[in-house]
Amino acid sequence: MLRLISESPAETIAIGRRLGEAARAGDVLLLQGPFGAGKTHLAQGIAEGLGIRATVTSPSFILAQEYRGRLPLYHLDLFRLERLDPATAEALAEYFEGDGVCVVEWPALVPATWREGATSIVLRPLGDQVREVIVETGPTHLVEALRRAARG
Ligand SMILES: Nc1ncnc2c1ncn2[C@@H]1O[C@H](COP(=O)(O)OP(=O)(O)O)[C@@H](O)[C@H]1O
Ligand SMILES: [Mg+2]
Repeated sequence: MLRLISESPAETIAIGRRLGEAARAGDVLLLQGPFGAGKTHLAQGIAEGLGIRATVTSPSFILAQEYRGRLPLYHLDLFRLERLDPATAEALAEYFEGDGVCVVEWPALVPATWREGATSIVLRPLGDQVREVIVETGPTHLVEALRRAARG
């Protein structure tokens, strides 16, 4: 477990950038936290770390957005998903099993088998600009990248 403090949107993006730089094919990152916690800012940073210049937004009507970088980025926002029916599960499975980096906002409905080896991150607002970023679990290459960054 690793706990970081972000004191601005730019700092949250910088944390994401470290993750994106260290990410490997097949990494799955589950981003949890309420509206406005900073999940999309963290995803934007991950995109930047993967060398993606596009702006990452949370699309309103689609569940997943693909970006091309050093590795493909699959950005999923499952807020609107009410249940994981078989057709949707089949469509989403390719993102979790793919050769890219899969970043998921609102991952509550993600099945346990897809969470194996995933990085679980919780963002918690502590104030207007302050966010607690808790990395509950994740592979060494990502956790250590953040630890090194935290030490400066
Ligand atoms: N330290 C911080 N990190 C990330 N966002 C922050 C921070 N402080 C304030 N904010 C604001 O909180 C909001 C976070 O938005 P967003 O990343 O879309 O959150 P989410 O995807 O979790 O709903 C933005 O309006 C951003 O400006
Ligand atoms: Mg969002």
